[in-house]
Amino acid sequence: MAVLTATGLTKRFGGLTAVKNVSFIARPGEILSIIGPNGAGKTTVFNLLTGFVRPDGGSVSLDNQDFRGMSPESRCRAGLARTFQIVQPFRGLSVLDNVVMGAMLRARSIEMAREIARQVLSDLDMSALCDVPAGQLPIGDRKRLEMAKVLATSPRALLLDEVMGGLIPIEVKRMIDFIRRLRERGIALVVIEHHMNAVMQLSDHILVLQNGEPIANGAPAEVTRDPVVLSAYLGANFALSGS
Ligand SMILES: Nc1ncnc2c1ncn2[C@@H]1O[C@H](COP(=O)(O)OP(=O)(O)OP(=O)(O)O)[C@@H](O)[C@H]1O
Ligand SMILES: [Mg+2]
Repeated sequence: MAVLTATGLTKRFGGLTAVKNVSFIARPGEILSIIGPNGAGKTTVFNLLTGFVRPDGGSVSLDNQDFRGMSPESRCRAGLARTFQIVQPFRGLSVLDNVVMGAMLRARSIEMAREIARQVLSDLDMSALCDVPAGQLPIGDRKRLEMAKVLATSPRALLLDEVMGGLIPIEVKRMIDFIRRLRERGIALVVIEHHMNAVMQLSDHILVLQNGEPIANGAPAEVTRDPVVLSAYLGANFALSGS
């Protein structure tokens, strides 16, 4: 069980402040969604949390371990994993071997890594795809493979960057069910998602960013009625249509 804490995260790219003073706590067994318009700074927050980008201000910790100066790999070893918005499997490798790469983070042998990978693929209903080269998968299965790769690292906190993007409705439903099961396992989840239907079904808390700045933070019902959020992102009709 792990609590992921971001405090005052700030990142500037030249003259652009992509992330400004973003703070939140992601708790075990809860889902925090980060929403906001394109370019709001959501993915940059994930890059700051995971150490792919160095902050100009603020800090990240998992439980009481301060992540300052730690590489993405050592943060992953500590239990923080992420998916990438643009999924890039090892295209020539089989689905199974892609997931084995994730499992190798902790497994003591290749056999153990294979066992973990098979279990994760089975959890995701992907057992039948084990031998398929990852490059041949359609987008929906590639998104599930991305999920499988990170789950094989046995994360305690997991960051999901638009895992519903490009999925058809039945796949979205399946992904929502799966993310809920991860919450039940006690993983702390942070979800970036434009698919508002999914956000409403999943979130315990929502953080809204605009131009890098938090403009709202709270329970879904509260945040989605906030006039500032409606005008910045959701649109005035959101409450009426509910989608
Ligand atoms: N490495 C970088 N160098 C320069 N600018 C960057 C870099 N990464 C992100 N940005 C800029 O920071 C801003 C925030 O980008 P980010 O990718 O975090 O947005 P986002 O909220 O994830 O958007 P989307 O919903 O489209 O994925 C954008 O203006 C983007 O162009
Ligand atoms: Mg993004």
